[in-house]
Amino acid sequence: MQKSTTSLLILVCAFSLLSTLKFGYGSIVGAYSNKSCIENEKQALLILKNSLIDESNNLSSWVGDDCCAWHGISCNKRTGRVIQLDLRGAGLKGDEINSSLLHLKYLSYLDLSFNDFEETRIPEFLSWFKDLTYLNLSNSNFKGLVPRHLGNLSSLRYLDLNGNPLLSIDDMGWLSKLSLLEHLDLSGVDLSGANNWFPLPSSITVLVMINCHLPEKIDSYPIFMNLTSLVSLDLSYNYLKSSFPLWVLNNSDIENLVLGSNQFNGQIPNSIEKMTSLTVLNLGSNNFQGLILESLVALTSLTDLDISHNSFQGFIPDGIGNLTSLSRLDLSFNGFRGSIPPSIGNLKSLSKLDLSSNKLNGSIPHEIGRLAELTQLYSQTNELSGGLPESFCQLSKLKILYIYDNHLSGSLPKCFGELSNIEQLYLMGNAWEGILSEHHFFSLSKLAYLAISSGSNLVLNVSSNWVPPFQLRYIYLQSMTVGPKFPRWLQTQKQISYIFLANSGISDIIPADWFVSVFVSRLKSIDLSDNDINFEGLSSVSAAPVGLNTLALSNNRFSGEFPAFLCNVKSLSTLILSNNKFTGELPQCLGNLTELTHFDVMNNSFSGEIPAALGNLVHLNYLNLHNNSFHGKIPLSFQNLTELVTLDLGKNNLNDNFPPWTGEQLPRLKYLILRSNNLYGNIPAQLCSCPSIQLLNLAQNQITGNIPSCFGNLIAMIEGESEVLHPGFSYLSGQMIVDDAKGYELRYTSTLGYLFSIDLSDNDIRGEIPEELMDLGGLVNLDLSGNQLSGRIPEGIGELSKLEYLDLSKNKLSGRIPQSLSDLSFLSRLNLSFNNLSGKIPTGNQLQTLEDPSIYAGNNNLCGQPLKSCITDAKSDHRKDDTGSYDEHIWFYTGISPGFFVGLLGFCASLYFIDSWRLSYFYSVERVSEKIAIALFPRKFQY
Ligand SMILES: *[C@@H]1O[C@H](CO)[C@@H](O)[C@H](O)[C@H]1NC(C)=O
Ligand SMILES: *[C@@H]1O[C@H](CO)[C@@H](O)[C@H](O)[C@H]1NC(C)=O
Ligand SMILES: *[C@@H]1O[C@H](CO)[C@@H](O)[C@H](O)[C@H]1NC(C)=O
Ligand SMILES: *[C@@H]1O[C@H](CO)[C@@H](O)[C@H](O)[C@H]1NC(C)=O
Ligand SMILES: *[C@@H]1O[C@H](CO)[C@@H](O)[C@H](O)[C@H]1NC(C)=O
Repeated sequence: MQKSTTSLLILVCAFSLLSTLKFGYGSIVGAYSNKSCIENEKQALLILKNSLIDESNNLSSWVGDDCCAWHGISCNKRTGRVIQLDLRGAGLKGDEINSSLLHLKYLSYLDLSFNDFEETRIPEFLSWFKDLTYLNLSNSNFKGLVPRHLGNLSSLRYLDLNGNPLLSIDDMGWLSKLSLLEHLDLSGVDLSGANNWFPLPSSITVLVMINCHLPEKIDSYPIFMNLTSLVSLDLSYNYLKSSFPLWVLNNSDIENLVLGSNQFNGQIPNSIEKMTSLTVLNLGSNNFQGLILESLVALTSLTDLDISHNSFQGFIPDGIGNLTSLSRLDLSFNGFRGSIPPSIGNLKSLSKLDLSSNKLNGSIPHEIGRLAELTQLYSQTNELSGGLPESFCQLSKLKILYIYDNHLSGSLPKCFGELSNIEQLYLMGNAWEGILSEHHFFSLSKLAYLAISSGSNLVLNVSSNWVPPFQLRYIYLQSMTVGPKFPRWLQTQKQISYIFLANSGISDIIPADWFVSVFVSRLKSIDLSDNDINFEGLSSVSAAPVGLNTLALSNNRFSGEFPAFLCNVKSLSTLILSNNKFTGELPQCLGNLTELTHFDVMNNSFSGEIPAALGNLVHLNYLNLHNNSFHGKIPLSFQNLTELVTLDLGKNNLNDNFPPWTGEQLPRLKYLILRSNNLYGNIPAQLCSCPSIQLLNLAQNQITGNIPSCFGNLIAMIEGESEVLHPGFSYLSGQMIVDDAKGYELRYTSTLGYLFSIDLSDNDIRGEIPEELMDLGGLVNLDLSGNQLSGRIPEGIGELSKLEYLDLSKNKLSGRIPQSLSDLSFLSRLNLSFNNLSGKIPTGNQLQTLEDPSIYAGNNNLCGQPLKSCITDAKSDHRKDDTGSYDEHIWFYTGISPGFFVGLLGFCASLYFIDSWRLSYFYSVERVSEKIAIALFPRKFQY
């Protein structure tokens, strides 16, 4: 969207520039007249002047007798009559156009554009100028209906109303009367309520109707029917919804065709090849589909081709190399696959090439190196592989290079250092290797944005006293080797505002005072996570950096007390100190950081009470104090944190009643982790009113009472769909860790949206499992183990169709295991051990893969697979278990029903999404695939 807005702006600007050149302020030849002006016309002009506010004194020349010599006025040389009034961009203000203007009877040229008429209406009397050929009222803050009387301007050739967003037209009929009209620009005028869509005059050569709210069905009105002289057509940013407008093809002289940002669909007709005069073709941001036809590459006059943001597919035709006049080619955000055709090297005039977000693969062809004029190359998120050819370095004018998130590998050519015009270099998300040396940056004096990450063996190796030729504003060298020493050359970077050096192999001690003064004072964001950095004297820093809003120091070896100077960095919005060795108490002064939205000190050794002042930080949406040694109560002030999404106080020594938060206080709370503390008391029913909760982990406390039946109202868990509310957070390494009660830790980042979980394990909860819990159809994990629950497993357990983990072990549950358990086709971990369950274990579907007998252990009266067979059942069952292994086979084959495969597929699909669970599932997946192999090759299945 932003991109589209930009292109609109560029378009508008380009157009205004064009019109300035053509019809600029006082540029008409013959502005000087021999005959001095007519008295009543002079008086009329003076009245006009007095009715306007001329703050910038642009009408200061409007004095004296010879009005023909005044600024913006031209007269007919013979008659002395004023024929031209050009006040374009004169900075005038006023809430009327004075009707004295009517005395200029012979006016043929009127330009009032780029002034401020303060939302006045366009006066009807403008229609009385019989000789008017040129009328420009653009960008002048007119409002209301455009008077249909303008249809009387029978000499009009040029009409521009663009850039008055408060104008509208209710009746298009008058436009058809302007039979000499050549140039019509209605951009921004609201035509959504217009009637009488008569054919526009066939004389029109330039038609611009950008963002006019043109209705979807414009094709069914005849307004474009008679347009046979078009040279330029721009209908972008409307709601047009049809196939490619065929009437356009009748205009074989069209040079500019812009239909971008509508809802056009279908294929581009072959006959477009007849439009051989086309120089600009912009079909971007529509729903066009199909292949790019060879007919498109027959348009060899094209200088600008934009078909981005559509659904084109197939290969980029080799014939693209025939479009040798192209200076801009945008194929981004489509479904192109295959490799980039080498013929692209023929596009000698290309200055911008955008191939981003397709499915291209292969490597970047050497021929791209021949594109000497190229200044911008965008090719992010493809599947490009291989290395960058040396010839790339011939792109001597390249300013912007985006080739991130591909599979590019190999080392970067040394000659990269010759790309002396480069300003932005985004190479991250590839698999670069080798050494980046000073040579690679040798003459990159204009470089301001540098982003590289490799995930493998790329090493930045420069001397410790290197003075780079550039002044960076943004540096992102992540997941590559920059260390072991902290790069001292960063000191030379006086403009730098963003430093991302996470996981860059730095192992160093940095004097904190020096760091704060050199960097932090200019910085907006810094991420040094996942290194081995310590600051010397961080606690005693006195300077207060201004403007810093992100500080991420996660996973280093910082120690000592909380750095108190941070309390003075009022601009901080993200502070991540997790996974370090900080000790001592959190200071009350943290309450001063009222801009904070993310605060994370997980996995440190902070102690003392949680400061109540944290309750002042009302914009917090992520608060993580997990795994420290906080004791005492949960501050009451937390109920003021109404924007909280994540609250993790797990693994501390908090000793408190379960807090009585309500949905009104914490309407956005999604992830609540209080596990492994000493919380006691009942779970209050108020919790059920929190509308967004999707992860509730209260394990390992001393909670008593029943599971409130109102848990069935936790609406977020009913639907089981949610957006991830921490977008943009992933570039920082501050991820949330939820540790499962079973002692291993799961890391979540972008998968949080899929996590719906209730863990109440290892408490002292009694009573039955409420049937209402079975309404939470989105649940993925349910762990109630290690409590005193009694009664039966609810019959409706099979309703929890997304369940993958179910642990009810170590309770006092009794009765049969409901058959519906076998409906849980995603179930991959089950534990029912140590209860009083009895009867036959249900079979079928996914349950077949859960064959470890220990999951049923400690229930003395259970029988059936995978435990001992049920004697009574076996008698009534024809699948009699005499020979043992034979019936095992039968059992197994019947088990491989479609349900099994659906279950398995679903399971694999969910693994695909729940990326971070993959590791913990790895073992069971292996076993599952073994089973598939067995099922497909039954002969191997011989015990
Ligand atoms: C008008 O003025 C121009 C230049 O000032 C001069 O060359 C021309 O002769 C004058 N014409 C008349 C009719 O005075
Ligand atoms: C279309 O244009 C032709 C001539 O160019 C004219 O005769 C005809 O009336 C126009 N049609 C309409 C509906 O205005
Ligand atoms: C490209 O141009 C060459 C030479 O004019 C021509 O032979 C070829 O057919 C063209 N290719 C395409 C795909 O139009
Ligand atoms: C910061 O916090 C401290 C301690 O809570 C307090 O005394 C001080 O007034 C606060 N400063 C500002 C500027 O709010
Ligand atoms: C919540 O904020 C209000 C307004 O700032 C304040 O008056 C109130 O004391 C706070 N509540 C708690 C429990 O801190």
